[in-house]
Amino acid sequence: MTRATGTYNITTLNEFIIERQADFPYAKGELSRLLHHVGVAAKVVNKKINKAGLVDILGRAGDVNVQGEDVQKLDLFANEHFIAALRSTGECCAIASEEDQEITVFDDGLPLDGKYVFCMDPLDGSSNIDVNVSVGTIFSIYRRRTERGTPADLSDFLQPGTEQVAAGYVIYGSSTMLVYTTGKGVNGFTLDPTIGEFCLSHPDIRTPEHGTIYSINEGNYAHFPAGVKQFIKHCQVVDPDTHRPYTSRYIGSLVSDVHRNLLKGGVFLYPSTQKAPQGKLRLLYECNPIAMIAEQAGGKASDGARRILEIPPEDLHQRVPFYVGSRQMVETVERCLAEAR
Ligand code: AHG
Ligand code: MN
Ligand code: MN
Ligand code: MN
Repeated sequence: MTRATGTYNITTLNEFIIERQADFPYAKGELSRLLHHVGVAAKVVNKKINKAGLVDILGRAGDVNVQGEDVQKLDLFANEHFIAALRSTGECCAIASEEDQEITVFDDGLPLDGKYVFCMDPLDGSSNIDVNVSVGTIFSIYRRRTERGTPADLSDFLQPGTEQVAAGYVIYGSSTMLVYTTGKGVNGFTLDPTIGEFCLSHPDIRTPEHGTIYSINEGNYAHFPAGVKQFIKHCQVVDPDTHRPYTSRYIGSLVSDVHRNLLKGGVFLYPSTQKAPQGKLRLLYECNPIAMIAEQAGGKASDGARRILEIPPEDLHQRVPFYVGSRQMVETVERCLAEAR
């Protein structure tokens, strides 16, 4: 008789979701189904991105979105596929997307009864698509506030980030990863294309209290708040005892910059600029989900004065200044901003 020798110690995303279901006695599997479908949609988008140079998916779609940005074909492809996947679960009754001015309400049949609403940046870092640099998808899930069985409305989405039941991102990089939290820590899954499964590769991610990386588009220096200029100077002081000067790393895709800093330690800054007086990044589907991930991993996220997760949203596409990453580094940014006021 031959004895099985190999240990098959892979935990797939679906196994993990089911195992962790025990954390939520009230949940009857709806959130699990939703997360499973996020994984399915991520695999579909990933396949397209992996051959973006070969199929007609690069370049502009020819129109401008509510953000005033040239929409890329992949923005639309990702948007359509995430909406289709989420509609099919019947667990989500409406979606807010960077690419759509208004919310998409699923008001026909099953989805009307969905317990959750979904906010997303379907394709983050669009400017990097055509030059083969990592891009991502960012998502945030809330319990709906309106009555189940009725069409969802804006009030379901204008909830503070502290109300998120789950948040995460997909990074389509050298490998494709799904990183998410349901409020009990952060876990990362790497897609194994040979078996088409997201496999647990980064259990219980903790971000270093301090790091030596700062990420900011210094091209906007002239218009940064004085406190941000002060922080940049602080990063550039030559002081071996505090490992300075720090390293400047900026990819221009939020998910990529955040993911690197989450694992290695560091701080990402997108302050107000002349072009973006409220900051460029959107509260609902970029800052809140990333802030929940950062806090769950032991880091911090603020608009320079307020905790991101406590900012009451007033508009689907509201922008805020965004400082996120290693706790001590975000606190240093906040101190520089306070001293400069
Ligand atoms: P999106 O592609 O979803 O519109 O987001 C782009 C964002 C974010 O990914 C990145 O951090 C930031 O734009 C880069 O902005 P700048 O090019 O102004 O630095
Ligand atoms: Mn965009
Ligand atoms: Mn984005
Ligand atoms: Mn986007």
